[in-house]
Amino acid sequence: MFNTIPIAPKDQIFSLIQQYNNDKNPDKINLLSGVYRDADGNVPILKSVHRAEMELLQEEKSKDYLDIEGDKNYRECIPALLGLKNRHFDAIQTPGGTSALRLVAEFIHQFSPTSTVWISNPTWINHHNIFKAAEVAIQEYPYYDATKKEIPFDQLLASLKKAKAGDFLLLHTCCHNPTGCDFSKEQWKTVLELVTQLSLIPIFDNAYQGFAEELSEDAYPIQLFAENSHKLRLQCHHNTRCTSHFLIRANLQRHRIYEILHHKLCPNLLQHLPETLHL
Ligand SMILES: Cc1ncc(COP(=O)(O)O)c(C=O)c1O
Repeated sequence: MFNTIPIAPKDQIFSLIQQYNNDKNPDKINLLSGVYRDADGNVPILKSVHRAEMELLQEEKSKDYLDIEGDKNYRECIPALLGLKNRHFDAIQTPGGTSALRLVAEFIHQFSPTSTVWISNPTWINHHNIFKAAEVAIQEYPYYDATKKEIPFDQLLASLKKAKAGDFLLLHTCCHNPTGCDFSKEQWKTVLELVTQLSLIPIFDNAYQGFAEELSEDAYPIQLFAENSHKLRLQCHHNTRCTSHFLIRANLQRHRIYEILHHKLCPNLLQHLPETLHL
């Protein structure tokens, strides 16, 4: 059977990185992946990360398995790092952002198979791959007017009005990839209204918190939706989901730590997420 397996297409971004590495031009700049680089183009290890690693080395007492939901101390810090004041949220640790999104996708496929996920056009290319791989239906909403260099907000709203109750809406919390163009606070409030009116389920991909403004400022959309979560329909797995990225923030891409945040008010979700994690 191995002879008949088709060869996977080359990853476009990683192929470009290879071309970049081979390019002898001294003025080359690598803007391909969302990492922090210093003036010399290096991806430095932050001093705080070095310090934390030293502490971990000294204090770590066991290499035993973690709980299936991940490291308890780490998970408990997540709501505060997102600036969430109430204690209704719980986080599950995942190996990297792609797998956090894949778990959300598997969850939708398993428990809400008739739902569609609405994805911005354009978006991070892997959003398509991840939801397609989990056989979740995708629709796009227009996000960027390249001539005006802005979000065509009226068109975006008109397009999302076609979504049905129980559909999921994938949103970039800040530093929208690839446009870098984010909603204003007023626009976020309008999106919240729309999500509430249409009974949609928001998914926040929080990959770059702290790269546009301060940590708490960048998490504004998640805080806004969390404060208004009583207005969102919290039935079964109708819920606010948020995948959040701590490795990009700390320049720790190699370690692939990420987490899924979910609302504790939903008992079914709590029961089913670990089940999805076991897949
Ligand atoms: C919007 C977005 N979401 C998620 C990710 C996470 O990916 P990873 O699997 O590398 O943690 C990225 C990384 O480029 C991204 O840009």
